[in-house]
Amino acid sequence: MNEGPIAVVGTGTMGAGIAQVIAQSGKAVLLYDQSADAVNKALAGTRNRIQRLLERKRITQEQHDSILANLKVVSDLDDLKPATFLIEAIFESYPAKEVLFKQLDKIVSPDAILASNTSTIPITKLAALVSNQGRFVGTHFFNPAPVMKLVEVIRGLNTTQATMDRAIALMKSIDKTPVTVVDAPGFIVNRILAPMLNEACFILQEGIASKEDIDMAMKLGTNHPMGPLELADLVGLDIALHTQEILFEEFGDSKYRPAPLLKKMVAAGLLGRKSGKGFYDYSTGEKK
Ligand code: 3HC
Repeated sequence: MNEGPIAVVGTGTMGAGIAQVIAQSGKAVLLYDQSADAVNKALAGTRNRIQRLLERKRITQEQHDSILANLKVVSDLDDLKPATFLIEAIFESYPAKEVLFKQLDKIVSPDAILASNTSTIPITKLAALVSNQGRFVGTHFFNPAPVMKLVEVIRGLNTTQATMDRAIALMKSIDKTPVTVVDAPGFIVNRILAPMLNEACFILQEGIASKEDIDMAMKLGTNHPMGPLELADLVGLDIALHTQEILFEEFGDSKYRPAPLLKKMVAAGLLGRKSGKGFYDYSTGEKK
């Protein structure tokens, strides 16, 4: 089928980043969020990032203008009808996604692909919400989406090969590197990453090393761009904990038990960058 606009539903950090990537690749994006505030915040953030790219001479004025022109905000789900590929990136709530996909199933063309950026809800379970499970796929982007090259393309139990092929082709066309994964808790990256972040919390709570030394050790010892604790602050401690809890629940293996320190910090509202404080304090200039 001819490629129409790509719809992105949900304009939080991930949705806004995904929309930016698609718009930068020259494709039209239909952007929807049920909250007008969220859309405005996302657009303001995107404009700033695109402006910075222009100032750093990474893009021309013409490219700058066409990226912004590629982003079209719609205020009604029905306006997503022309989309040929839809990526859902709302918050991680199955009931919220259930309501959304049941509506979208009736709105978007039967030929359009329905994708979710979920990191913790099984793709097969989400696919079961729509009438044609074969056209449902997972497309898991990484934060910050405009920078991170990887997208995990996840095959649900009933996802067809044609759907996988279209998802892979789209990811390549927006300059991402897709890897394919069978639907399983944590897919590839979070199955490895979440336990690593969790283990760093155990090391800290056991007093084995300071937070700075834990981060330095992993940066200089394994060439990671960020240490695990600063990365947990970037991801969000609530998200890191939720991912770990899903692995623990799904596999029923004690090796995935969440670190008590991580649970305690989330309970205290220390969520990382987004709350101003996590392992590091972003309000005092301890970390930028
Ligand atoms: N949005 C857009 N662009 C951003 C950005 C953001 N939030 N943060 C940084 N950038 C851009 C900068 O503008 C800069 O671009 P330029 O090269 O064109 O000037 C480039 O990224 C490098 O940024 P900086 O020089 O400021 O800083 P660093 O070189 O330290 O890079 C980083 C920052 C890209 C965040 C790097 O530290 C990194 O790769 N960290 C690891 C991130 C990671 O592991 N993410 C995955 C998280 S897990 C996940 O998302 C899964 C989920 O399910 C939990």
